Parts: sequence; structure tokens; C-alpha cells
Amino acid sequence: MNCCNRMFKAITVTCILALLVEVHTLDNGLALTPPMGWMAWERFRCNVDCENDPDNCISESLFTTMSDLLVSEGYADLGYKVVSLDDCWLANERDAEGKLQPDPLRFPSGLKALGDYIHAKGLLFGMYEDYGNYTCAGYPGILGHLEVDANTFAEWGVDYLKLDGCYADPVEMDIGYPEFGQYLNATKRSMVYSCSWPDYQRELGIIPDWESIIKTCNLWRNFDDIQDSWASVTSILDYYADNQDSIIPNAGPGHWNDPDMLIIGNFGLSYDQAKAQMALWAIMAAPLIMSNDLRNMDPKFKAILQNKEIIAVDQDVLGIQGRRLSKEHGIEIWTRPISPTEENFYSYAVAILSRRDDGMPYKVPITLSKYGMTYSLGYKVTDLYEGIVLGEFDPDAEFSVFVNPSGVVVLRCDLIF
Ligand SMILES: *[C@@H]1O[C@H](CO)[C@@H](O)[C@H](O)[C@H]1NC(C)=O
Ligand SMILES: *[C@@H]1O[C@H](CO)[C@@H](O)[C@H](O)[C@H]1NC(C)=O
Repeated sequence: MNCCNRMFKAITVTCILALLVEVHTLDNGLALTPPMGWMAWERFRCNVDCENDPDNCISESLFTTMSDLLVSEGYADLGYKVVSLDDCWLANERDAEGKLQPDPLRFPSGLKALGDYIHAKGLLFGMYEDYGNYTCAGYPGILGHLEVDANTFAEWGVDYLKLDGCYADPVEMDIGYPEFGQYLNATKRSMVYSCSWPDYQRELGIIPDWESIIKTCNLWRNFDDIQDSWASVTSILDYYADNQDSIIPNAGPGHWNDPDMLIIGNFGLSYDQAKAQMALWAIMAAPLIMSNDLRNMDPKFKAILQNKEIIAVDQDVLGIQGRRLSKEHGIEIWTRPISPTEENFYSYAVAILSRRDDGMPYKVPITLSKYGMTYSLGYKVTDLYEGIVLGEFDPDAEFSVFVNPSGVVVLRCDLIF
């Protein structure tokens, strides 16, 4: 793994940086920035009633429709490329040869054909399975069939696999998830590997083996499934913040913490809360996997999901996950080091998040040096949702912003050269 021995001087700096951080990571070359796309679960669940609800059931037409919309509505151009199945795509039994098969009525063309359709759109095919005897909804899991299932996914053209952990022993996951990763690798098809392993262990009070997890998975779930509510979003934020010292160091190019899907455009979040989810997910270097109905997107919510500046923060090449710096009077300050850098100084994205509910915008005074920004030439500060430059500020200069109740202000603070 010591790249510096084999490389030339010009890239020595990169090598030294790489050696300073943990280098024993999954080296399948994938997910160098957090994956982006669309996934069925949070919004469409296990709706298998195509007879009565044909437009919303888990079926091939749901996925071809969402693929079409990712492209035609401009999401794909911004990076939302993975179209992912979740639970409930399966038939109740394996086929006569012991292979997984989709429900024949809901996926009449088969999954190879669905993958071809997704690829023809320039998108990536995301698949779901479970490292257990059953998926969470009770369909066949992969336990006992690891090799044949990895090969089946490769045959179908899968690019991204989410492996859940119901009906499995969380202790055995320390062996099972790496073993399945070996079978994926042996197919020679590049597949992003998304693991639920640490979340199932956390639920049992087991401290996950992070060294093994970041060597095995491109991303992993740490905490509960997201639900369609602000309470769910804030419970996830609190979990990540309360455990940030152990969680953050595991993130980096090719290996990410996954706080679960974006629920923006659904029923549970206000406009301000939706802006907050998008911003905080970008600060956390989170995968941006939407689960929503792209056929019915309010333009205001679509604009949040398509905010190029916030996406750029999420996709920053350095891949450093941000953290909560403070929590006072219901105002939280979250910061994330981003590029460009100069010497030992970073630029930063800053989210000022209000957890207050007293109904007026709250004035928050800001001094960049208090957030660790001490570059003497100062910072150019841009409000990313308003799309305006607030000015150039010395580290000790004072200015202020107004944050709406359960809303956010996102600042990008670029080093001034
Ligand atoms: C999975 O099924 C096998 C065969 O029935 C059984 O022996 C095993 O205990 C099951 N594993 C789990 C984790 O439930
Ligand atoms: C398989 O693993 C090797 C060694 O870690 C890696 O170089 C290669 O890119 C992997 N291949 C795939 C298809 O993931």
C-alpha cells in the first residue's frame, strides 16, 4: 500500500497526504466522491400492489420512469446517476438453478433488461439484497448463496449494491460482509458496495471493526433508517454529531458514512427543513441518494436538490467529513474543510442550523476565527442558498446572518489568495 515507493516526485505531496491518513481502504477505484442518485425505499417502501396502485408499486416501470426523469429533469447532469432498487423486487423463491429472480409480474422484462435500460440512459444500476436468510421484507436473502448471487448481479450489469442486514447474526457480519466483497471483486465487475453492517452491530451495542469496514465497503449505514419527518432528520444529525469523533475519521474518498436518503420533495419537511437536510448532508460528505417522487416535484424543492453550490460542497475532492462545532441557544454551527487549500489552511463550508421554534429569523453573530478559520489574508464568504457574496472578511471581523426556525444558512468561505 505504500504508494510513495513506486511513484514520482511530482505526486509525492499527494502520497504523503495519503500516508498521513488511513490508506488501507477498499481500492476498487469507485465512489471517490460520495455516490449520488435515487433509491426507492423511503418514498415507495414495499408497495407490491400493482393491481390497485400500478403507478406507485415496486415494478420495472417505476424504475424506468424515474430513470427517464433523472435525465429529462436535469438531475443526472448534476451527478445523480445511480437508480437503485430496494427491498421487495424479488420473487418469493429462487429459480430452479438456485439463482435470485425478480417478481415475474412486476418485473416482466427481467433485471438484465432493466439494467440495460438504465445504462442506455447514461445512468448506473443500483441493486438491493440482504446478508441474511431473508431480506427485511421476507424475500430470499443471500446467506448460503454468496458466490452465485455476486455472479448474478454482475451478469445483470449491477453497478452499486446495497447489502442490508436483516435475518442475520450481526457478529457474523465481520466475516460475511468481507466474504461477499471478495465474491463481488472476483466477478471483475466494478460495483460500489454499500454495507449496513455497522448499523446492525450498533443496535446490539457492538463496537464496529472500522478498520475492516473501510477496507471492505465504499459506504455504510451507521444509524436508523430515515423516515419522512424533521424529527427523523434531527435524530440522525444528533447521532452523527454526538459520535463524531469516532465516525468522521472513517470517511474519505472511496469510503463514506451514509446517514441515509434525502427525503426532500416528500410530505414531511418544510421548505426550510428541506434546505437544512441538503446542507447538512453536504457538510457530512454524505451520499446524496434521493428517495422521492420525481414525477411530482415542487420546483422549490427541486431547486434545493439541484443547488450546484451545495452539491459542490458535498462532492469536494478532499472528501473530509464536517463536524458540529457548537450548539448554543438552539443554534448549531457545523463546518467542513474543503478545497481550495493553501499551505496548511483550508477553505470551509459552514452551516448555521437553527433548532429553534420561536417564530422569527434569529440573528447569529459570526467571527470566522472562532470556527478555526485563521488565514491572515482572510476569506471570501458566499451565502450558497441566496447566491450572494457577503464580502471578504478577515478572520477576526464580525458579521451576522439571520437563520429561520428549523432552517439553515450555508456559507462557503474561500481562502483569499
Ligand atoms: C439461516 O438459515 C439456516 C438454515 O435454516 C439456519 O441454520 C441459520 O441459523 C439461519 N441463520 C440466521 C442468522 O438466522
Ligand atoms: C479487486 O481487488 C483488487 C485488489 O484490492 C483491486 O485492485 C481491484 O480493482 C478490484 N476489482 C474490482 C472489480 O473491484
